[in-house]
Amino acid sequence: MTLLVTGGAGFIGSNFVLDWFAASDETVVNLDKLTYAGNVHNLISLKGNQHHIFVQGDIGDAALVGSLLAQHRPRAVLNFAAESHVDRSILGPGEFIQTNIVGTFQLLEQVRTYWGTLTGDEKSAFRLLHVSTDEVYGSLGARDPAFTENHRYEPNSPYSASKAASDHLVRAYHHTYGLPVLTTNCSNNYGPMHFPEKLIPLMIVNAQAGKSLPVYGDGQQIRDWLYVKDHCSAIRAVLATGRVGETYNVGGWNEKPNLEIVHSVCDLLDELKPRANGHSYRQQITYVTDRPGHDRRYAIDARKIEQEIGWKPAETFETGIRKTVQWYLDNPDWVTQVQSGAYRDWVAMQYAQA
Ligand code: NAD
Ligand code: TYD
Repeated sequence: MTLLVTGGAGFIGSNFVLDWFAASDETVVNLDKLTYAGNVHNLISLKGNQHHIFVQGDIGDAALVGSLLAQHRPRAVLNFAAESHVDRSILGPGEFIQTNIVGTFQLLEQVRTYWGTLTGDEKSAFRLLHVSTDEVYGSLGARDPAFTENHRYEPNSPYSASKAASDHLVRAYHHTYGLPVLTTNCSNNYGPMHFPEKLIPLMIVNAQAGKSLPVYGDGQQIRDWLYVKDHCSAIRAVLATGRVGETYNVGGWNEKPNLEIVHSVCDLLDELKPRANGHSYRQQITYVTDRPGHDRRYAIDARKIEQEIGWKPAETFETGIRKTVQWYLDNPDWVTQVQSGAYRDWVAMQYAQA
C-alpha cells in the first residue's frame, strides 16, 4: 500500500508525513517542488527510511505525476501542495494561479487517468484528498455564526480565490467523472516547522532576535487556531472514513484576536527565555500598516467532522502554543537554516513601510 503526498516538505505536509511514519510503515511517495516554503530538512529524521520516497517536482508536471502514479500505484493521493501565504499572493498572485489552480487541475487530470486504469477493490477504495482552507468562505462579522460546510464561497485574497478555484475543480471532478474525492477546509494552523513568514513563527523568531513584532492594523482580526498535529490527525481520519464527495471543516474552536496571540507568545518567551534586561517581549510590539483587503474574522464550525467521523482536537491553544514556542527554542538551527537570503529579502520588502 502506498500514498502519494504532494507538498510534503512544507509546514503541514512534513508534519503529516512524520506523523504518518510514527504510526505506519505504509510507503509515502512525497512529491514537492521545494519552493522557498519547502524544506527537506523537515524530513531529515526519515533519512534511510525506505518507505519514504522523496521526489522533487511540480504537481503541474503531467508527465512526472502520470509516471509516479503508474509506477507506485497509490491507494490515495493527498494534495497539500500550494502557494500558501496571503501577503505573498497580494504582492504577486501569478504563482498562486499557477500552482493552486493550474497545478491542481493537472494533478486531477493525471489522477483521473490513473483511477480509470484501476478495477475492483482498488478502484472503489481509491481516494483523492484535497487539503484546503477556511479562507475560501471569506470574512465573518463579529456576531456571525461560524463557517459550516454549506457556507457560500466568498474568497477575498488572491490566495483564497485560488484555493476556492481548486476546491471547485475537485468538486467538479467528483460530480462529472465520479472521481472519489474528499476535501478538508481547515482553519489557521500553528506548530513545529512553520515557516517564519506567518504570524506565530514570525513573532517567536523576531522576539528572540530583538526585532519589532509587526501587528497589522488594530490587531483585532480574529483567526481560529489549530495545532498542526491535530490537523494531521483530522486528515488521517477523513482519509479513513470520510464520505466520498463530502467536504469537512476542521477547526480548533480557538477563536482569538491577533493581538492576544502575540501577547501569548511574548508571555511564554518571558517565562521560558526572559530578556536580559528583564522587560517583557511585549515591548517589541509595533502596529504597522494593515494588509489590503484584510479578512476580519474566520471561525470554523467543526461539528460535522466530530459527529460523522468522531474527530476532535487533542490540544487546547494553551498546550499547543507552549509546545510550539518550546520547539522553536529547541531548534535554533532549523530557524537559521530557513532564514536564507531569499527569506531576508522577503522580510525587507514586506515590512519596508512598517
Ligand atoms: P507551505 O507553504 O508551508 O508548504 C507548501 C508546500 O508545497 C511546500 O513544501 C512547497 O515546496 C510545495 N509546493 C508549492 N508549489 C508546488 C508545486 N507546484 N508542486 C509541488 N509542490 C509544491 O504550506 P502549508 O501551510 O503547509 O499548507 C499546506 C496546505 O494546507 C495548502 O494547500 C494550504 O492551502 C492548506 N492550509 C494551510 C493552512 C495553514 O494555516 N498553514 C490552513 C488551512 C489549509
Ligand atoms: P498569517 O499567519 O499570514 O495567516 P492568514 O493570513 O492566512 O490568516 O496571518 C494571521 C493573522 O496575523 C492575519 O490576520 C494577519 C496577521 N499578521 C500580522 O498582524 N502581522 C504579521 O506580520 C503577519 C505575518 C500576519
